Amino acid sequence: MISEKNTNAVELHNISKTYISGEVEVEALINLNLKIKMGERVVVLGPSGSGKTTFLNLLGGITPPDEDGDQLIIFRKNIKDYTQKQFSDYRRDKVGFIFQFFNLFPSLTALDNVIIGINILNKKRKEKLDIYKIAKEYLKKVGLGNRLYHYPSQLSGGEQQRVAIARALAKIQFVGKEFILLCDEPTGNLDTDTGERILNLMMELNKEIGITIILVTHNLSIAQMFATRIIRIKNGLLDKISQVKN
Ligand SMILES: Nc1ncnc2c1ncn2[C@@H]1O[C@H](COP(=O)(O)OP(=O)(O)OP(=O)(O)O)[C@@H](O)[C@H]1O
Ligand SMILES: [Mg+2]
Repeated sequence: MISEKNTNAVELHNISKTYISGEVEVEALINLNLKIKMGERVVVLGPSGSGKTTFLNLLGGITPPDEDGDQLIIFRKNIKDYTQKQFSDYRRDKVGFIFQFFNLFPSLTALDNVIIGINILNKKRKEKLDIYKIAKEYLKKVGLGNRLYHYPSQLSGGEQQRVAIARALAKIQFVGKEFILLCDEPTGNLDTDTGERILNLMMELNKEIGITIILVTHNLSIAQMFATRIIRIKNGLLDKISQVKN
C-alpha cells in the first residue's frame, strides 16, 4: 500500500523495534504508525530511554526494524525492497545525521572533517560546486571561521558539535530536496544564542532546498520555535502528535 500522491518522505506502518541483549528484551519502539511529508520539520520529544534515537536510526538505515513489522517506506519504496546497493546509496546521498555524540575523525582538521562528508557523495552532484569553498563557508556560518585547521582534540565540546553540524549542513548544498536530515539533540552542548543561530541555518536549508528535517530535543522552546509538527514518544509508543504550523 504505497500512499496517495507520494509526497511523503517516510511512512511507518506498524513498525516496531526490539533489542535483544543477553536475556533482556527491550521493546524500544512499538507499532508506530506515522507519515512525514517531504519538507516537514518534525520535532521528536520524549523522556530519556523512550526510543527517540532508535527512531532516528530506523529512518537513517542504521538499525533495521523488526522483521514481522508491516512496512517502512522511505521515498516511496519499502526498505525491504531496497537492494543492498540502493540502501547504501540512500545512506550516502539522501540522509544526513547530526548525532548525539559528534563522530568526528580525530586525525582530520575541522575543515577536512567537513570536506569528507561531501566527498563521499555521488560524483555527479559534486562537480557543479566548489567543495572547499562551501565547507569553509559552513564552518564560518557556525562560528568556526577561525578554527578551520584545528583537530577535534583541540576543540571544545560545543565546537566539535558545531563541526559535525557544519559537515551535515554543507553536504545539503549538494543534494536535492529528496533528503532527510536527522538531528539528535544537535544543540545540546551549545549556548542559547549559538543554538538558535544553528536552528535558523537549518530552517533556511529546509525552506531553500525543501529537505525534510527530523530533530530530537528535550527543549520545549526549541520545539515550538522550530517545528512544523511535534511528536512525542513515550515508552516506545507514539504518544501524541500536535500540529504546530505549516
Ligand atoms: N543497541 C541496543 N541494545 C539494547 N538496548 C538498546 C540498544 N539501544 C537502545 N537500547 C534501549 O532501547 C531504549 C530506547 O533507547 P534510545 O536510545 O532510543 O532512547 P532515547 O529516547 O534516545 O533516550 P535519550 O533521551 O536518553 O537519548 C532504551 O531503554 C535503551 O536502553
Ligand atoms: Mg537518544
